[in-house]
Amino acid sequence: MQIQAWLGCLVICAGLSVAQTAPATDEQIWAEFETFTKELTPQPPGESAGMRVRYLEALKAKGVPEPEAVRRFERMNVLRRATVDREKVYWDASFKSGGGPSTPLRLLQEALYKVKPGRALDAGMGRGRNTIYLASTGWEATGYDMSADALKVAQGEAAKAGVKIRTLEAKHENFDFGENQWDLIVCAYCYMQPEDAQWPPVFLKALKKGGLVVFQTSVGGQPSWSGLSENWKGFHILRMEDLDAGVVDNDWVPSRRFRTVALVARKE
Ligand SMILES: C[S@@+](CC[C@H](N)C(=O)[O-])C[C@H]1O[C@@H](n2cnc3c(N)ncnc32)[C@H](O)[C@@H]1O
Repeated sequence: MQIQAWLGCLVICAGLSVAQTAPATDEQIWAEFETFTKELTPQPPGESAGMRVRYLEALKAKGVPEPEAVRRFERMNVLRRATVDREKVYWDASFKSGGGPSTPLRLLQEALYKVKPGRALDAGMGRGRNTIYLASTGWEATGYDMSADALKVAQGEAAKAGVKIRTLEAKHENFDFGENQWDLIVCAYCYMQPEDAQWPPVFLKALKKGGLVVFQTSVGGQPSWSGLSENWKGFHILRMEDLDAGVVDNDWVPSRRFRTVALVARKE
């Protein structure tokens, strides 16, 4: 009887281990990641481990060998970009893991040198490092993000910093940017691309005269300058940089692996 039970266990365990070792399909990879995000608990305050670390640990704990775990993580990173709803699943989980840099964007600090504070909007604010920086330097700061977990972290951090910020849960696609509303719009690694023609006209309408856009993100390929200046007409481009991978090494990780575009533009 004991031998039968032991043999049974051996068969089941071998089966499980084959299942974990075998290359998972895209559907399995995404389903497995979604399950992981549902079970993920927020990191205690002050602690933070990136998503990669926490997800690889979870896969290894299930018996997935390291190379297959890395492959699944990398594939998940591609699959999540398929829809905005998947991105939301990813970012909610990311902010439970502590996600991303906590110091403000250097470009923002440089761009605002000697600029009089006014009303600022932080698009895709994440945990609010830039919104909080703005509030603490006298700006009336509003930020929005599609990740409710990010906004919770942001409000907690703002309370710790002793500043007030306004946070709204919204997607770029449905956020009302308004008209003549803002003195500053910040897009820091916020999943808008500088070459995407749909956003500059929205910013132009939403900004007050003389208002600034501070935009920085990593980009997959080589930016097209003619495309960029065409998109941003109506703005005076104060600063535009196309930086090699690794030049920006104190910000979000993709900037270490991909080129980064940094742009400061003023509504004429
Ligand atoms: C790399 S983080 C950057 C966060 C923050 N701007 C910063 O620099 O720390 C990307 C953020 O964009 C948000 N995001 C991505 N796609 C979005 C969308 N379509 N609408 C609103 N927020 C979005 C994510 O939830 C995430 O918080």
